[in-house]
Amino acid sequence: MGQVGDTLRRAGYGTQGDNTRVENPARDLLWALFDQSTPVALGEVTAHCEPDLPELLARSGLVVLDGARLVPRVRIVRWCDLFVAGDLKGADSLHDDAVFAVSGTTSILENLRLDRPVKHALDLGCGSGALALRMASLADKVTATDINARAVAFSRSNAALNRIETVAVDRGSLYDPLQGEAVDLILGNLPFVLSPEQRLLYRDGNKPTEELVTEAVLGAAEHLKPGGVAQFTCNWPIRDPDAEEWVRDLAARTGIDMLAIEYRRRTPLDHTRNWNRPARATDPEVQLELEQRWTDWFKAQEIDHIGFGVLTLRRPATARSGRFSYFVADRLPEAGGGRQVDRMLRALDAPLTRNSVPGPVPHVVFQQLVHDGSGYDAMPAEIFSAESAGICLTVPPDAIATIMAVDGCSNVAEIVGPDGSGYDTLDEAYRRGLVTLD
Ligand SMILES: C[S@@+](CC[C@H](N)C(=O)[O-])C[C@H]1O[C@@H](n2cnc3c(N)ncnc32)[C@H](O)[C@@H]1O
Repeated sequence: MGQVGDTLRRAGYGTQGDNTRVENPARDLLWALFDQSTPVALGEVTAHCEPDLPELLARSGLVVLDGARLVPRVRIVRWCDLFVAGDLKGADSLHDDAVFAVSGTTSILENLRLDRPVKHALDLGCGSGALALRMASLADKVTATDINARAVAFSRSNAALNRIETVAVDRGSLYDPLQGEAVDLILGNLPFVLSPEQRLLYRDGNKPTEELVTEAVLGAAEHLKPGGVAQFTCNWPIRDPDAEEWVRDLAARTGIDMLAIEYRRRTPLDHTRNWNRPARATDPEVQLELEQRWTDWFKAQEIDHIGFGVLTLRRPATARSGRFSYFVADRLPEAGGGRQVDRMLRALDAPLTRNSVPGPVPHVVFQQLVHDGSGYDAMPAEIFSAESAGICLTVPPDAIATIMAVDGCSNVAEIVGPDGSGYDTLDEAYRRGLVTLD
């Protein structure tokens, strides 16, 4: 399998070339075959790719030779610096145990992942193994676990495809394969979709997802070493008027730190349609029945909205009770957003005092000046971290000077002045990882 990865890499599969779009027929053929899941002519592949490629692909089981055509059996995507294989598109309508190469939520977790070297990392519900393979670059050892035997097989062959030898893949539910061992970093893009359904393993898991996510989060508290961090994609029920209640109660049960970031909030009907696209429904009556069943289920539990976000948990390095913060994001996270999360976690440890000396972090300020015909009015400013976790701070125009006075030399008392105005802005910027004490 490693040879296949080497060949794909040499062919530039999954790269865009430069701005002038360099001609590369081999790359285009591989793109059609593995990204678009389209059969390609054997003669074309032989003419443009390395001569032994068709045989290599057939031997590895990634394609079948069907007369004069190569027919893909898997989808392979280039994701970050990896090749990741999974089932062909639409496999979930054929198999309950479908495994996808990567999904949008895989990337959300990857973007929020803390970027520090660790000894032992765990990918819970590894699917294709994409997150485990990414963690291999910062962990001495990675354990990847899944209850789906097909996911275990994909994870193993994806490790081989990328010549990564430090990922051990074990079949089992949640933390069972760890057999009590504690780890430094856990990523869990587990099934999290709140619904009455119990059908698709990747979406619904092997038990009601609220139960699964709760067990995963409580289990993290038991399996993290001091200072260790766990991150989970998650849906949570929102009952008005307290959007944070379910998450706050869960955090209290763990007894460790939790930072909750809400990225989306949907009504039960929007949530239902998002996970059962009406456009795909062949029978409107079936779709209506499904929408009714899902929305009745939410109504019976008095759920007004469904939150989607990421829960980051950390076992404090010293013995103290857990701390909790909840943020509503303005955007999805970008690559490197874990750096902002890291600062937000550190802010839980050390509150800002009058003697603290905050320093700036790379950031962007968006502010509009509106001319009403007679002069400019400054609008509130939005401050985003570069490498953003999606969490910004909106400050009134007269408070932006406080943020701009952060220079890494002046202490808080000097920045906010004798009347202390501006302290709340500075403290909120600190809690949001937009200034730092490092
Ligand atoms: C949403 S998929 C994500 C897969 C992969 N982490 C990714 O990001 O592409 C969730 C995965 O969790 C697995 N899973 C479901 N229930 C599980 C359980 N109780 N323990 C371990 N894995 C489970 C599913 O088989 C599936 O592979």
